[in-house]
Amino acid sequence: MTTPGPTNGPSTRPGPATAAGPGVDSSSLLSLRGISKHFGAVEALKHVDLDVPAGQVTALIGDNGAGKSTLIKAIAGIYEPSGGEIFWEGRKVSIHTPRAAEELGIATVYQDLALCDNLDIVENMFLGHEKTRTGVLDEIAMELRTKEVLADLSVSTVSSVRQLVGSLSGGQRQAIAVARAVMHESKLVIMDEPTAALGVSQTAQVLDLIKRLAARGIAVIVISHNLTDVFAVADRIAVMYLGNLVSSGPVVNYDPASAVDLITTGESSRTAA
Ligand SMILES: Nc1ncnc2c1ncn2[C@@H]1O[C@H](COP(=O)(O)OP(=O)(O)OP(=O)(O)O)[C@@H](O)[C@H]1O
Ligand SMILES: [Mg+2]
Repeated sequence: MTTPGPTNGPSTRPGPATAAGPGVDSSSLLSLRGISKHFGAVEALKHVDLDVPAGQVTALIGDNGAGKSTLIKAIAGIYEPSGGEIFWEGRKVSIHTPRAAEELGIATVYQDLALCDNLDIVENMFLGHEKTRTGVLDEIAMELRTKEVLADLSVSTVSSVRQLVGSLSGGQRQAIAVARAVMHESKLVIMDEPTAALGVSQTAQVLDLIKRLAARGIAVIVISHNLTDVFAVADRIAVMYLGNLVSSGPVVNYDPASAVDLITTGESSRTAA
């Protein structure tokens, strides 16, 4: 699908992308081409093409069972695609394990967050990546780095980094999970339903955090069923329907009505452009 835009007059927009491979947009951090995934007879993903640019929020939307979580798990090294290719910074890659994804700079925040309630914020931030000094845990360095990352992301609502994660609010927990994801110099942060369990003000905090990540040049993919959140935060929208990626493009090409059409029927006569 092409996005016709104004081609005359002064423009500060980037020009057309130069291809890094057949049909691959080299201005994208991540490009998926023809990604499919079968679970036995179930075709959860059918030849999905998607380009994810740096510094932008891509909202991945679609009905229950459309294939959104399966798609991000293929990017995050949890599921091996049954077919297709993944390009990272224009280079073809295979992402066989979560560790391989992490090494490329892909961080994923799952809905259950996988934080440990009985550990404090610093311990959660460094779980599995503990800093040591002469064989001993370097608590001071870890605490300083945690404070630095939280300050950098303007997460100001936690009173102490030594607070147990179990005592945090849902929005604060989400912020810690995101901070942990970005701490390891991630270039792409993927979030599956980050605001699903949150109240109004906590949702606003998390949406704000998502925007700040993009403003720092990080690519963000966010799955959401909440179209208000989607239109508040997304630069781009990608719609899945029954395993197909049926539409993607800049958010200005969509409105809530066309998004609902695409989610529920896989097509829309109302999509702009
Ligand atoms: N591990 C699995 N084994 C078998 N089938 C699976 C597996 N994971 C997902 N599926 C199937 O693949 C399809 C897509 O599921 P997926 O979880 O990606 O949907 P989703 O878009 O994330 O939905 P939701 O919005 O409900 O989270 C569904 O039909 C689902 O039943
Ligand atoms: Mg899902």
